[in-house]
Amino acid sequence: MATYFITGANRGVGLELTRQAAAAGHYVYAVCRGPGKAHDLSKLAAANQDNIEIVPMDVTQANSIATAKARIGTNPIDVLINNAGVMGDDPQSPLDMDFDVLTRVLAVNTVAPLRVTKAFLPNLERAKGKVIVISSMMGSFTYGETSKMAYCTSKTAVNRLFHALAQDLKSKGVAVGILSPGWVRTDMGGPSATLTVETSVKGLLQQIAALDLKTSGSFGNYAGQALPW
Ligand SMILES: NC(=O)c1ccc[n+]([C@@H]2O[C@H](COP(=O)([O-])OP(=O)(O)OC[C@H]3O[C@@H](n4cnc5c(N)ncnc54)[C@H](OP(=O)(O)O)[C@@H]3O)[C@@H](O)[C@H]2O)c1
Repeated sequence: MATYFITGANRGVGLELTRQAAAAGHYVYAVCRGPGKAHDLSKLAAANQDNIEIVPMDVTQANSIATAKARIGTNPIDVLINNAGVMGDDPQSPLDMDFDVLTRVLAVNTVAPLRVTKAFLPNLERAKGKVIVISSMMGSFTYGETSKMAYCTSKTAVNRLFHALAQDLKSKGVAVGILSPGWVRTDMGGPSATLTVETSVKGLLQQIAALDLKTSGSFGNYAGQALPW
């Protein structure tokens, strides 16, 4: 049994990651910023009291991260999944950017994954664990549209950060995965998305299981395909 720490665990990809990891017998710290409103997660945790523990944490707030860290203490974490993310409202094309949106999206999608990873690095090191960031094809330079540039830029930047992190964590025995879930039917992905959350998450967990120090720092999708930077 491994220990997972999953952010944004109250809905979408994060809730399904929690469900499938717990169903596989793992212990899950299900991290969300509003446990009082997290009804689906609360139900899931009530049915899995032995291996799902809800941890309140806003990934953008240093004091909230410190409180969560104090709660987890020195417990080893085998897999930390930085899944929490936001798309941000329009406008966000380069010539028509809402700078508050750009700042907010970068805070959640780019700054927070590194801050959270640094906070829990001792727990990851104890387990010689793996740290994942859920990124997106929209962070690739090959993605052509310019309308969602706050989001795209936040994912490009987090890819760069986690690629560098992989280099720096190799000697500590911690592997880094940069994974796209595909286009998934969640609140963010919308109803026209091509993938169910179950299919995407099944694939993501397979890719996480396959990740090791040799493949650390690579960018791929839920189906195991390498993605262009
Ligand atoms: N769905 C897709 O097609 C798709 C495609 C590519 C990449 N992704 C990526 O996959 C990840 C999950 O996406 P999703 O589709 O599951 O999105 P979602 O349904 O919109 O869920 C987003 C999750 O992030 C949490 N979150 C946002 N800001 C937070 C904060 N400051 N602190 C803590 N949690 C916060 C949300 O919590 P609240 O409920 O409290 O807001 C929610 O749990 C994201 O990183 C997204 O960029 C998704």
